[in-house]
Amino acid sequence: MLNIDWKNLPFGYFKTDYNVRCYYRDGKWGIVETSSSEHINMHMAATCLHYGQEAFEGMKAYRGKDGKVRIFRWEENAKRMQRSADGVMMAEVPTELFKEAIFKVIKLNEKYVPPYGLGASLYIRPLLIGTGPEVGVRPSKEYLFIVFVGPVGPYFKEGFNPVEMQIINDYHRAAPYGTGHIKVGGNYAASLKALHRGHKEGFASVIFLSSADDKYIDEAGPANFFGIKGRKYITPDSPSILPSITNMSLRQLASDMGLTVELRSVKVDELGEFDEVGACGTAAVISPIKRIVDRGTGKSYEYCKDGVAGPYSSKLYFNLCEIQEGITEDIHNWVTIVE
Ligand SMILES: Cc1ncc(COP(=O)(O)O)c(C=O)c1O
Repeated sequence: MLNIDWKNLPFGYFKTDYNVRCYYRDGKWGIVETSSSEHINMHMAATCLHYGQEAFEGMKAYRGKDGKVRIFRWEENAKRMQRSADGVMMAEVPTELFKEAIFKVIKLNEKYVPPYGLGASLYIRPLLIGTGPEVGVRPSKEYLFIVFVGPVGPYFKEGFNPVEMQIINDYHRAAPYGTGHIKVGGNYAASLKALHRGHKEGFASVIFLSSADDKYIDEAGPANFFGIKGRKYITPDSPSILPSITNMSLRQLASDMGLTVELRSVKVDELGEFDEVGACGTAAVISPIKRIVDRGTGKSYEYCKDGVAGPYSSKLYFNLCEIQEGITEDIHNWVTIVE
């Protein structure tokens, strides 16, 4: 038996028994190997270290009420990792290889999938890196695909309780025609200083604006942004936003509930018109936002006046969680049971 305090898990690294690895050499992928080492032995001139040839994914496995382990829309993560690989000229991980690796690593570490009902899950981190040595700026000829897992608790300490966010315009996460639409490490490096300062100033996260003109909402840190206005679910469309699989799913659920879905540019000025706003992503599903402060102008926007998430955010949140945990019927075929 494992001695883990499942209820108080942080969202952080947790050592488990195994990870899986697959090497790309001589133009082809090898077999999926099991490793119990937490370390990678790598050439000091590897392109991931020098030229940012790296991409990752973030997904979760959930223990259902019925005890079964489920993963959510893994094919979308496989496709996104292929787009990320293409964006920084890495060898793409074929969908079948991606599937084999994630299912294998979950099975190997099944005892680390938290019990149902404690708000914890098994986080899955696929990682693709250029490992071949290059000194000139060019893509590697060799790659390593590695997947590790670990049990995690909620991303924000507030859980599903409303958080405060800060709009900033003195840092940008991604440039127009840059790499904002793919999940590569450089975007996260670019966001660190802003996030760190935001945390120090008391905010759960920062909201990045369109870097060309600072007029439109891009992303809420490592999550997409959405707002509810009347019976509309509105979420920003921009070439520098990472297409969130959670957001894609919430748009479908919103439409199933009879809301109109608008995927379009969202001006900062429009924030005053929303009834509910939130951030969405795998880590937190939905983080309702109670207050947004514009660091530049000092203007503040208030939501959740009674201190709790709004009715549509709550409905969407519970609907998605219940699909992930196998409680609600999975009419869109989003969930795969790990057997
Ligand atoms: C920058 C960024 N935006 C949005 C998301 C949410 O995406 P998803 O719902 O696929 O987890 C993430 C997390 O993966 C992210 O890192």
